[in-house]
Amino acid sequence: MTTVGFIGSGHIGGTVARLAVAAGYDVVLSNSRGPETLKELVDELGPKASAGTSAEAAAAGDLVIVSVPLGVYRDVPVEPLAGKTVLDTNNYYTQRDGAIPELDADSTTSSELLQRHLPTSKVVKAFNNIYFVHLQALARPAGAADRSVLAISGDDAGAKGEAAAFLERIGYDALDAGTLADGWRFQPGTPAYGGLYAGENENFWESPGVPVGASALQAKLDAAQR
Ligand SMILES: NC(=O)c1ccc[n+]([C@@H]2O[C@H](COP(=O)([O-])OP(=O)(O)OC[C@H]3O[C@@H](n4cnc5c(N)ncnc54)[C@H](OP(=O)(O)O)[C@@H]3O)[C@@H](O)[C@H]2O)c1
Repeated sequence: MTTVGFIGSGHIGGTVARLAVAAGYDVVLSNSRGPETLKELVDELGPKASAGTSAEAAAAGDLVIVSVPLGVYRDVPVEPLAGKTVLDTNNYYTQRDGAIPELDADSTTSSELLQRHLPTSKVVKAFNNIYFVHLQALARPAGAADRSVLAISGDDAGAKGEAAAFLERIGYDALDAGTLADGWRFQPGTPAYGGLYAGENENFWESPGVPVGASALQAKLDAAQR
């Protein structure tokens, strides 16, 4: 029995929570405004879901998803995440997050910033390059011919294994895209970001989502330029 904690329960956090509950996990949600503001989502998800503060969700999770605007990453509670595997969905958008000079200079990656903030946690980058609508729509049981693959990257092999096992259970295969420093290969602006799961020739916003296999994702990761 695994409980998944959520720091941020918006578009992408809420979608991962829906997939997790459908796969049999318990979830503890949190946001910036307080647990009472998550009542609608908790009611929708049913008895396997509850809401708490960010610290409570972090403490409750055997595995924790951080899914907030990157600009507030320093608000993510540190102590209750000590030693835990943390899946990082965050992306850097200057207009939303404010300028972060190290990222503008490409001298680090957004997931390395979160790892630095959470020194004893094991951060794995995941879910950042798929639109939440496509994430919900493309989940498939293991073995389905049209099951999609998602990239993960991280510095701890055990944590990447945990991340892959979670992905596999909620409807996706996992492709190991290297270390946190390699995470730029599927950050905003790269070929593997967003549009890949919308289909090359589809209107992104109208696309219902198009399954993506490992060779197609690997080709996009290989084509990334910094
Ligand atoms: N949207 C997508 O399809 C998508 C896909 C992949 C990755 N991402 C990335 O994933 C992250 C989340 O995106 P999103 O679209 O899910 O955003 P969103 O819908 O705006 O949700 C953000 C969540 O973070 C919470 N939050 C904000 N500030 C917080 C703080 N200081 N402490 C705790 N929680 C806080 C918000 O709570 P309140 O509502 O209470 O403020 C909300 O629950 C972003 O970095 C985004 O770039 C998004």
